[in-house]
Formats: sequence, C-alpha cells, structure tokens
Amino acid sequence: MTTASRTVRPHPESPGVRAFPPGFLWGAATAAYQIEGAADEDGRTPSIWDTYSRTPGKVRNGDTGDTACDHYHLWREDVALMTDLGVGAYRFSVSWPRVQPTGRGPASAKGLDFYSRLVDELLEKGITPVVTLYHWDLPQELEDAGGWPERDTALRFADYATVVAEALGDRVGDWMTINEPWCSAFLGYDNGHHAPGRRDTAAALAATHHLLLGHGLAVEAIRSTGHPARVGLAHNQAVIRANGAHAADVRAARRADGVRNRIFTDPLFKGSYPADVLKDIAHISDFSFVQEGDLATISAPLDFLGVNYYTPEFVAGSDRGLDPAGVDGGGGAWPGAEPEEVHVSQGLPVTQMGWEIDPRGLYDVLQRLAGESGGIDLYVTENGCAFEDRVSEDGAVHDPERTDYYEAHLRAAREAVHAGIPLRGYFAWSLLDNFEWAWGYSRRFGIVYVDYETQQRVIKDTGHWYAELAGTGRFPER
Ligand code: FCB
Repeated sequence: MTTASRTVRPHPESPGVRAFPPGFLWGAATAAYQIEGAADEDGRTPSIWDTYSRTPGKVRNGDTGDTACDHYHLWREDVALMTDLGVGAYRFSVSWPRVQPTGRGPASAKGLDFYSRLVDELLEKGITPVVTLYHWDLPQELEDAGGWPERDTALRFADYATVVAEALGDRVGDWMTINEPWCSAFLGYDNGHHAPGRRDTAAALAATHHLLLGHGLAVEAIRSTGHPARVGLAHNQAVIRANGAHAADVRAARRADGVRNRIFTDPLFKGSYPADVLKDIAHISDFSFVQEGDLATISAPLDFLGVNYYTPEFVAGSDRGLDPAGVDGGGGAWPGAEPEEVHVSQGLPVTQMGWEIDPRGLYDVLQRLAGESGGIDLYVTENGCAFEDRVSEDGAVHDPERTDYYEAHLRAAREAVHAGIPLRGYFAWSLLDNFEWAWGYSRRFGIVYVDYETQQRVIKDTGHWYAELAGTGRFPER
C-alpha cells in the first residue's frame, strides 16, 4: 500500500531533536454545526448552514447537520473519548443560533446551559476548554438582514460575544473570536461554495471588513467582562507559492497572497489594509465601509494566534496555459470575473479532498506568522486530513495514511519549536468524523470514526497513536 509518508517531501529535521517541550498543549478540535445535530431543539433557530444544506443541490448527497454526530446528546461520552485520547485541550465552537436564537437580544438559557455543562465536564476531566465564538453558523435572521456585508452584523456579534463570555468566562480562559474569516467572506459571499452561497465580490470584501471588525469588537467585549481571558482567532493563512520565476507567476502569487492573507493579517497586525490590494480591487470596492477607529479596534493586540493549515496553494499566471489543480473549496482565486491566476498542482500526493500533502507548508506558515504577529504565542488550531476509512473485521479502523500525515506535519511543527518559533500547542482536526460542509458526510477527518447510523464511535489507529504522542511528547515507534 502506498502511504503518504513514503511519498511526501518531509520537512528537514535537525539531528538530535526528539521530544516536544513539556507543557506543549495537545488538543482536538470540532465545530458546532459539524457535530451537534439537534438542529431544532431547545429553541435553536436555523443558521445559514441549516438553510444552505436544506437547499437541494448545495451539499453532497443532500446531507445536513440536522443530526450530525448527535453530540448535543452524546457530549458526555465524547468528553470521555477525549480522556481516552489523552488530550489536554478541546477546541469547540458555540452555536450562535443556539444561544441567541434571533441573533440579537436575550440569550436562551437552555442553549447557554448546554455549553456550561460541557465546560464543567471538561474541567472536571482536566481538559482545557478553548472556545471559538463563530465557526460559520450565522443566525439566518441576521443573514436575512444583510449578513456579514452589513456593519450591523459585527455589532450583533460583539453583543453575542458578551453574552457567551459573561456566562462562561468564570471557567473559560481561552477564546477564539472567528474561525477562518477568509472562508466566511469568500466562500460564503464571493464564490458561493459555502453558506450563504452568495456570489458578489463587493459583498465579500465588505464581509471581510465586518468579520474583522466583529473580531475586534468581540476581543473588547470578552476583555471587558473582567474575567481573565486569552483571546485570539483562527486564521487559515494560505501558503502560496509561485509556479516559477516567470513574471506572470510571481504577479499571480502576490495577488493571491494579498487577498488570501494580507487583507486579513495587515489589519490585524499593522492596523491598515495593504495598499497594493486596495489598488488591485479599486474597480470592485472603494472600501468606504471602513469607518474611523475600525482599524484600531481590529488591531488590538492579541494574546495568541490560531493557525489552521491543511495544504499549500501553488499559483501561476492564468495566461500561462497551465491546467488548474482540482482544489475544491480551499482555492483562493482572485475575486472578480476574470481571475488572473490559476491554482496548479505540484504533483504531490493528495488526501481524499484532493489537497496536496506538504508538511513544509506548515513550517513555512508558522515561520511567517511568527514574524508578522510580533512574537505572540502560536497554536496550530486545525490540521488533519480525510481518507476513506472503514471499520475492519477486527473492529478497528486502520488509517495508516492519516497517521503518516499527522506524523509528517508534527515533525515540521517540532522543528518549528526547535527553531524558536513560539508554537505552544496543536489541535487535531478533528476529534470526530463530522459534517464536512459542502462535502456532507462523504469526507471523514476524525481521529475517531463515527457510524452515523448507530452513532457508535471507534477510536481510529491514528487516535491511539496520537494518545501515545500526547502522553509522552515523543513519536511512537511504528
Ligand atoms: C477548515 C474548517 C473546518 C473543517 C476543515 C477540514 O477550513 O475550519 O471546519 O471543515 O477545514
């Protein structure tokens, strides 16, 4: 069998570097809509993902998150699984329409209570809760009022952040405001591959600003509850490489880097939008939605930065006649009708998503962000892969390709730590197989297998491997 580690290009390792440092945080991550189910229970209202997934033709096989992993009912068992996996931290997201069903106004006591009990159980088991406030499930009512392209959504998000931080802040110290703002803005409003499925580049650019503003306002809101809090966000910085030294490719890489990365990281870390990007997109938007004081709010210093990494993006000028790579959803195409760059394949092995496997990308992204974020703590808040898993006759799930993927990426992470990059922890994506957005249940990212018929969970071989690594800080013998 061809396994990933036999063919992937590993990151070069320094001799003699063996263990992860003591205190390195080993975690697992999930998101509310992908696992909770109970879509209509206890006053929860539809989010944009409920609407989108219930629209025929949007999600593979017509799958929805109506039941998902039924985590809303099985959360206690799922925390027990985390104990078996030896994880020290659990990154989960709070469902906005579950705790504030109309997106504004009073909170739902039942909704908040669910998360409160979950937090208590985690603490009881010695697992640190790491809470993401927004992992893409905007209350549909707010989308109906204009969604993220509207400034008011950022203000509503700050109120929601206050509601959650007041309820949980006595026990939760680690907060992430927004997960992957690029995906929300561009997959949601530009190419429409994700909810709410709009295709309007100007709206995506306004959404970009309002997601960042919502982030900044939520940082203030969390801090002003008075509870001790460490606040960051989860950013999916793209590793963009030019196909070659050809001027068109270099130009394409600059443009892609601008709209994929710098349009987010410059406001966050420099308090301004990048001038070259504003110039490039002047024909689409004049950014007049930016108001005085916004950039100061957005650039308030963070306590840490979450980095989500899966695959690099290789771009070439569109006039180069190269075949586009089959990058789905993760792309990074320039907004606008006539993209000037295309994604091309590097010829590396791929996961079931078609995403190329390149652990060097993880090192590169950590190195770059360590510089740009001014030395704050970094965490890999998502990393993982989908492969076609099944339960074998022996009752186990043998997933050597996934273990190879993890080991290769964690070797790159260990090398980053060794090089002095302030990487403090790593969260596997994902704790459980779950609803993989437009791919529905056809893509399994878990270190735990979920039988969606019976809701039975089986720790995959990679999960056992990860447990050993988390326990010792060293790579298990294989
Ligand atoms: C990330 C998302 C996460 C999951 C992984 C595979 O972009 O944050 O919810 O879908 O991709």
